[in-house]
Amino acid sequence: MSDIAEKVRTLMSEHEEDFVNMFKHLHRHPELSFQEFETTSLLKDYLKSLDIEILDYGLETGVIGLLRGAEDGPCIGLRADIDALPLLEESGCDYASVVPGRMHACGHDVHTSALMGAAYILSQLRSEIKGSVKFIFQPAEEINLGAKKLMEHEVMFRPKVDALFGIHNSTEVNAGEVAVKRGPLMAAVDRIEFTIKGKGGHGGIPQNSIDPVVAAASVIMSAQTIVSRNTGPLDSAVVSMCNIRAGEGTTNNVIPDSVTVLGTVRTYRREVQDMVERRLGEIINNVSQAYGCSSVFRYLRELPVTENGPELYDAAYRAVSAVAKPMDPQPSGGGEDFSIYYAAGAPCFFYWVGARNEETGCIWPWHSPRFKADLRAVTIGAGTYAMSVFTAIEELRK
Ligand code: NI
Repeated sequence: MSDIAEKVRTLMSEHEEDFVNMFKHLHRHPELSFQEFETTSLLKDYLKSLDIEILDYGLETGVIGLLRGAEDGPCIGLRADIDALPLLEESGCDYASVVPGRMHACGHDVHTSALMGAAYILSQLRSEIKGSVKFIFQPAEEINLGAKKLMEHEVMFRPKVDALFGIHNSTEVNAGEVAVKRGPLMAAVDRIEFTIKGKGGHGGIPQNSIDPVVAAASVIMSAQTIVSRNTGPLDSAVVSMCNIRAGEGTTNNVIPDSVTVLGTVRTYRREVQDMVERRLGEIINNVSQAYGCSSVFRYLRELPVTENGPELYDAAYRAVSAVAKPMDPQPSGGGEDFSIYYAAGAPCFFYWVGARNEETGCIWPWHSPRFKADLRAVTIGAGTYAMSVFTAIEELRK
């Protein structure tokens, strides 16, 4: 393995500039979710140039490639997301987006170029691969629908993926380091929607109305006790009400008929998730009733937790150790649709590749218009992907 690691590191350093140039091209030309047409055609051309087979799963955007190694063996999946966000870039980079109102503000271009780099490295080391590699360039992560779509098209099968790796950059992790976490890394993401209905009327004559605004205010405050009073001190949950709608225009003296609230819940354990859903239902229903209102509540489970199981931990740690410094991060309250692939039954592992550099202003969080990743993340990401193939095949062939 040390021999392979040395070859991977050599290819990384020899081709760093090429990989970074691929990144800069992608960064200049961001495309929104399910509209990644140019990126898709660029990726197909690139994989073909490396003699990597393009597999047809009937996708409009996104690309699945297969590299067959020297002998039959496990199939290792490597996934990168490819979509950008509807934001006006304010990073000040000389490679900034040339498309107004569109920006790679989550660094999916880092992941895409890293996986292109890995495809290059692995194509050069094809004769050393005792199995195969499936490259999964996934559309539409930002709207939480890309992985679902790819699962519907059965990209984890034909051939069946035996282990899957994914990366995300992080400006919380120093460039040069890669987060290798056992257990939950990113939260389960659930959507809350509720409407509280009262009886509208004159704001100056409240006794003739049933005010849903006061009931909603009470529900919102009470819901915070789910975190402080119902969640154990060593567990965690987030309940955020982020969108409240009531009243018309700028009217200040009409009690509205109803209030609609939208929010999000983040958890890391199924038991906690079930508890939050149950308590929200109880609070919304009972508090509304106490104020004489009725309520309707919907709880939608959008993404499961992104949790690294024990099966691939050693392989992941060894892969990272070959190309960067492993570190153990705090989990994030953000979600990832990578978690959707777990349903295919193969063990999955997700890394954060360090992209933080305080000196060069690579400090802004995902989805900020000033977001900027330290570009070492591209080549280290490529090396992390490539090494994961070798360590995982070794692990799975044991
Ligand atoms: Ni992202």
